[in-house]
Amino acid sequence: MHSNLLSFKDWASEDATSLLKFAIALKSAPENFGKPLEGKSIVALFEKPSLRTRVSFDIGINKLGGHMVYVDSQGEPMEKREDPIDVGANISQWADAIVARVFKHSTLEKLAQGASVPVINALCDMYHPCQALADYITMHEALGEIKGKTLAYIGDGNNVAHSLLILGVLLGCHQVVITPKGYEIDPNIAQLVSTLASENGVNFTISNHMEELGQVDVIYTDTWLSMGDNTPLSDIKNKFMPYQVNRALMQTSQAKFVMHCQPAHRDLEITGELMDSPESLLMQQAGNRMHSQNAILCYLLTNIDITQI
Ligand code: CP
Ligand code: NVA
Repeated sequence: MHSNLLSFKDWASEDATSLLKFAIALKSAPENFGKPLEGKSIVALFEKPSLRTRVSFDIGINKLGGHMVYVDSQGEPMEKREDPIDVGANISQWADAIVARVFKHSTLEKLAQGASVPVINALCDMYHPCQALADYITMHEALGEIKGKTLAYIGDGNNVAHSLLILGVLLGCHQVVITPKGYEIDPNIAQLVSTLASENGVNFTISNHMEELGQVDVIYTDTWLSMGDNTPLSDIKNKFMPYQVNRALMQTSQAKFVMHCQPAHRDLEITGELMDSPESLLMQQAGNRMHSQNAILCYLLTNIDITQI
């Protein structure tokens, strides 16, 4: 049993599988679970902009019977005003959980250190766990059983890639990551994923070469420049363009579906044509953000036993 969700990196494969199953069950029959967050207050503190995460948390919490208080911290990083340890301790006086989108993972760790209520990572520099769970719910809906399928992540080796890899190997999904040279995933995450992959009998390939893509079930990409990275697009565009996810790539890889966490940039990391195509799971992923987060909230804040679902 975990008391926070900062990342999936210390989760057991069985627990990850139970959480996915529970999220699917909660989505398909929410009436079976009543209003599990009745009377609960959740503070959502964001240092960066958001459409999907903010709105889906707010509406999801409301549907579960609770309510959300949004704290806009976009003016300056939280720790400039107050130590995140103290922020966590203060919020715990009033609220039942903290959802936070921050620049640095260490800010979440400090929040959790000070808090006596669960802390949920709504994106940081290293991870985006709520997104990854929504993505595997979506993949399950599109392709059935996750175990044994292959997901290829192409583009910048970022927070979204890290969470997809960690949760993916825990769920038994083979992983291919192809990034331009100099934009690889974090080496510590690569090491962790490699260990988890061998423990779980999963294939894990890292490369800078598109020729190594092979045959996959799903291609996933994300923005080439993440929030807070002020590198001009013109500095990286030529380097990333060969990694664009487009129709030709879908054909050579025989991928059945394309995924992207959004916000997406049409005709940069993914073609607009592919975003709008029948192979696109983008809107299903966005929709599943709420179901993913509702499952995480129930797991952390209620006494529902997700292993019994
Ligand atoms: N995918 C995602 O987290 O979107 P937002 O940045 O709009 O929340
Ligand atoms: N990698 C992107 C994901 C946005 C949801 C970012 O951090 O900006």
